[in-house]
Amino acid sequence: MIQIRTTTPFEGQQPGTSGLRKKVTVFQQPHYVENFVQSTFDALEGFAGQTLVVGGDGRYFNREAIQTVIKMAAANGFGRVLVGEGGLMSTPAASNLIRKYKAFGGLILSASHNPGGPHGDFGIKYNAGNGGPAPEKITDAIYARTKIINSFKISDLGDVNLDKLGDSRIENLTVEVIDPVSDYEALMATLFDFEAIRALFVSGFRMKFDAMSAITGPYAHAILEKTLGAKGGTVMNGTPLPDFGGHHPDPNLVHAKEIYDLAMASDGPDFCAASDGDGDRNLIIGKGRFVTPSDSLAVLAANAHLAPGYKAGLAGIARSMPTSGAADRVADALKIKIYETPTGWKFFGNLLDAGLATICGEESAGTGSSHVREKDGLWAVLLWLNILAVRRQSVDAIMREHWAKFGRNYYARHDYEEVESQGANDLMAALRQQLPNLAGQAFGSLVVRAADDFAYHDPVDGSDSHRQGVRILFEDASRIVYRLSGTGTSGATLRVYIERYEPDPTRHDLETSVALADLIDVSRSLSKLTHFTGRSQPSVIT
Ligand code: G1P
Ligand code: ZN
Repeated sequence: MIQIRTTTPFEGQQPGTSGLRKKVTVFQQPHYVENFVQSTFDALEGFAGQTLVVGGDGRYFNREAIQTVIKMAAANGFGRVLVGEGGLMSTPAASNLIRKYKAFGGLILSASHNPGGPHGDFGIKYNAGNGGPAPEKITDAIYARTKIINSFKISDLGDVNLDKLGDSRIENLTVEVIDPVSDYEALMATLFDFEAIRALFVSGFRMKFDAMSAITGPYAHAILEKTLGAKGGTVMNGTPLPDFGGHHPDPNLVHAKEIYDLAMASDGPDFCAASDGDGDRNLIIGKGRFVTPSDSLAVLAANAHLAPGYKAGLAGIARSMPTSGAADRVADALKIKIYETPTGWKFFGNLLDAGLATICGEESAGTGSSHVREKDGLWAVLLWLNILAVRRQSVDAIMREHWAKFGRNYYARHDYEEVESQGANDLMAALRQQLPNLAGQAFGSLVVRAADDFAYHDPVDGSDSHRQGVRILFEDASRIVYRLSGTGTSGATLRVYIERYEPDPTRHDLETSVALADLIDVSRSLSKLTHFTGRSQPSVIT
């Protein structure tokens, strides 16, 4: 029976940048999930009888939340729910399913790369019919609803068996438990030359993929080992665990150190990669050669035509503002447009929908293309494999050739985590105040060419975004960018992005910290970083 239950709003149910992300214990409060899901449904129109895609990254509380979502979808009048077996579904796979089956939208249960388990984080976000994160119009409407919600609708029927493939019914809703991998694998098979990649593995090419005990395990086992013939054991940590084995499922050099060390070993594999909690981020490391996400975007764009799905070339490339300018040089050479957007994947969605860009990427290890409307970790890995299979060179050799042709953008991101919010805000305010006076100022040999607060005019919907990060641009094409994180859960995180362009191939072998040393000093002195934050060193360098 469908029940209408009364509820009261919770404080702090802000939609955030991509849905709701909180501690598991917050989500476990009675009616917390129900309030958010009902607010989401209330903010949407026209879904009666339509399909909703539901799945998550397998973290603690995934199954409970999915049962609630299904019973509420039934009570609110959806016609069909497509849910991944075991409640599992990567974020890019969910995006694909929404698009492929023309679903009304989807609810993705994940807190991305944040830790899981009973004391970790949980999250829910709504993706719209194009397969991408809900536009601001919808997230604002959801937020408005969460503040006044007083009832929700739910079926009182029993739980769905998520471990058995096939259809069942709850009220008038058909629940279809599907294999979360097969549609995604089928999409990948249309984009990449699986034969060539198979031949690469047959030739003795060795790879390791770290699924970080998160969602990409089943995808990587199926695609890399079963279909493409990588030998058993290629996939590490391939079983999704509710607490990700106690690790942060964040594929950076701190949390994915195991695979980094493997890649750097003299007898290590030819190619190493990793993905995050929900499968949308990627880490790429060749034997002895870490590839920065910014460089990876540039190399993928320059070589995409080697994969069948991109053989006609790219319509354009999009990168977030803090991502290095390496992709810009590729776009110039390909005579296509480069779009520089604010941080966050949602800005790419419009460009992809309008056919203006084909490949997009962010310095934070997110790369993707027009095949879905989310960034896609395994996609990036497979495009790399396709390129390696065609070029038959090492990752290191490919990087060196790339830099010789386009120049090298030395790059690092310094994160100052959990700093006091007041200090972080004051630092940004002081920087903004300095902006009009910076042009022409010299810091040693570095002379400021221009300085601004990044603003973006969306060429598709005409919207404007302001105050997206302070940019200090130097005459030698070096750059320092400051912005505050929008995704942190405690205090403020100051991100400082440091970049130097080096055209001279005889100088492409420097340690990044050496190449950037003078800029790093300037990044701290110019912002009076220690004065405002009390820190003299970043918490994480990526
Ligand atoms: C971070 C990344 C950003 C990414 C976002 C969501 O946001 O920097 O590139 O889109 O996570 O995955 P931030 O914490 O910097 O606001
Ligand atoms: Zn993620």
